[in-house]
Amino acid sequence: MSPLPKSTLGRTGLEVTKLGYGAMELRGLEHFPRLSDAEASALLNGVLDSGINYIDTSPDYGYSEELIGRHISQRRGDFYLASKCGCPVEAPDVPYEDRKPHSFTRENIRAGVEQSLARMRTDYLDIVQFHLSPSRAVLEENDSIGELEKLRKEGKVRFIGMSGTVPELAEHIEMGVFDVFQIPYSVLEREHEALIHEAAQRGAGIVIRGGVARGIMIKDESIIDDYPEFLRAGFRARRQLWQRSNVEDLLEGMTPVEFMLRFTISHPDMATTIVGTANPAHLKANAEAAAKGPLPKELYEEARRRFTLAAESPA
Ligand SMILES: NC(=O)c1ccc[n+]([C@@H]2O[C@H](COP(=O)([O-])OP(=O)(O)OC[C@H]3O[C@@H](n4cnc5c(N)ncnc54)[C@H](OP(=O)(O)O)[C@@H]3O)[C@@H](O)[C@H]2O)c1
Repeated sequence: MSPLPKSTLGRTGLEVTKLGYGAMELRGLEHFPRLSDAEASALLNGVLDSGINYIDTSPDYGYSEELIGRHISQRRGDFYLASKCGCPVEAPDVPYEDRKPHSFTRENIRAGVEQSLARMRTDYLDIVQFHLSPSRAVLEENDSIGELEKLRKEGKVRFIGMSGTVPELAEHIEMGVFDVFQIPYSVLEREHEALIHEAAQRGAGIVIRGGVARGIMIKDESIIDDYPEFLRAGFRARRQLWQRSNVEDLLEGMTPVEFMLRFTISHPDMATTIVGTANPAHLKANAEAAAKGPLPKELYEEARRRFTLAAESPA
């Protein structure tokens, strides 16, 4: 396998692999089985052994931060580590629906970052992103950025990011303070395409989440019921968009997931896509797909054309 392609994460200057790892699948809560220590160790060490050098997690992802600390903190120099802030500070096993609301006060931001450092057994986070796209007004009334700047001066945080979506993302970009944006994007979810470009033009590093649309185009439709109610309609719409696109005859032996992943990394403004998986075979397949690089230009353009048409045609 060729080495994973890399790009520069905007003004951070970090050289990140275009395939990153999203550690949400390590949460071990609700419908998602808890990995044993042996499984988590094999998976996380497998991520690093595959050459991936960017890992994204959050205090909101159940046991994810603890497992990172337990199994790969001794390899901290091998990867960039990104987590989130504003999340409730509580035990990892509290079910999502019972958790306290997010809060962007200075106290909660500091407590969350300190908790992430302790759980992941590290002295610093490369990137801390505000979770759940809080508005500019919320950030300003809490002086939330002031607290992250203070943590940065203390050496606990290197760069400040935003996990942003519409409608707040445009004002986040306008604020000019974020080094990194984490944004949902795939061929099945292109509504942030123009804002991704805008953020990159202003020098921010772009991290894509949802880059394989959670495998929704190949998984049995019934798995949609395992996800929280608010996500289900979007998942169904994306599955139908895939079916309407007639893209399968373009794939020439590529699996749908390889196509999706290489489509995402073909986006000229993205630096890394943090694909999540708890399955070592999927991790291997994703690394092999990413190592092939972007899609050939003609295929990329034709796929964009077909998905644009499918999105415009009635469902
Ligand atoms: N900031 C936020 O609000 C936010 C929200 C969601 C996620 N995130 C971050 O973004 C990361 C990725 O986001 P995401 O989970 O929404 O999207 P994703 O990476 O597009 O999808 C991950 C899902 O795709 C499946 N998958 C991965 N590779 C596969 C393969 N080769 N074949 C079949 N299925 C495959 C995984 O299932 P298997 O385990 O079965 O492989 C997993 O359920 C998360 O881990 C997290 O770090 C952030």
